[in-house]
Amino acid sequence: MHLHKYEKVWLIFGSGSLVLFLLILGFGAFYLGTHPQSHGATIDPENIEANEAFQRENLGLTQVDDDRYIVNVVASAFNYDLGSDEEGNPVSHIEIPKGSTVLFQVVTTDVIHGFNVAGTNVNMMVEPGYISSLEVELNQTGEFTLVCNEYCGVGHHNMFATVEVVDDESGNETAAE
Ligand code: CUA
Repeated sequence: MHLHKYEKVWLIFGSGSLVLFLLILGFGAFYLGTHPQSHGATIDPENIEANEAFQRENLGLTQVDDDRYIVNVVASAFNYDLGSDEEGNPVSHIEIPKGSTVLFQVVTTDVIHGFNVAGTNVNMMVEPGYISSLEVELNQTGEFTLVCNEYCGVGHHNMFATVEVVDDESGNETAAE
C-alpha cells in the first residue's frame, strides 16, 4: 500500500497526539491522584438515610473533638439541608471557630450540585451516588457564602447558605450553656 507523504505525516501526528494525551491523562489520574472527590464512598441516592451521617438528626454542624467538626449536608434542588435548629427552623448559617478542622460530607438526592464555600479551599462537585467529602482547616475569619456552582435547574441561584468562621477568644460561651 502506498501512502502519500502528507498522509503519513498526518497519521503520525494524529496517533502521536493521541498517545501524548493518554500519557498526560494517566499521569494526572495515577501519579497526581486527580479524580472526583471521595470516589471511593458510594451511597444510594434514593435511600441516603441508610447512611447514619445523613439521617435528619445528624445533618449540619457537629463538634466531634476540641477543634474538630463534621458538617453533613444533603443537597437537593434547590436547597442545602443543614438540619434544623431548636425551634425546628431550617439552618442556613453555621458558625465555626477559627483554626478548626472541618470535614464536609455532602450528598445529593437528585441531580449534580456544586458545593463551594467561596473564598476557601472547599469546592466540590456533588454527584448522585457518591459521598463528596473534604477535610479543611479554616484559619481565616469572616463570613463565607456556600454556593452551588453547578447549574442544577431554575432555582439554581437560590441555592446558598453561609459559613462563618469566628474568633474563638471567648471560652465562656460554652460555659454559659
Ligand atoms: Cu444546585 Cu445549582
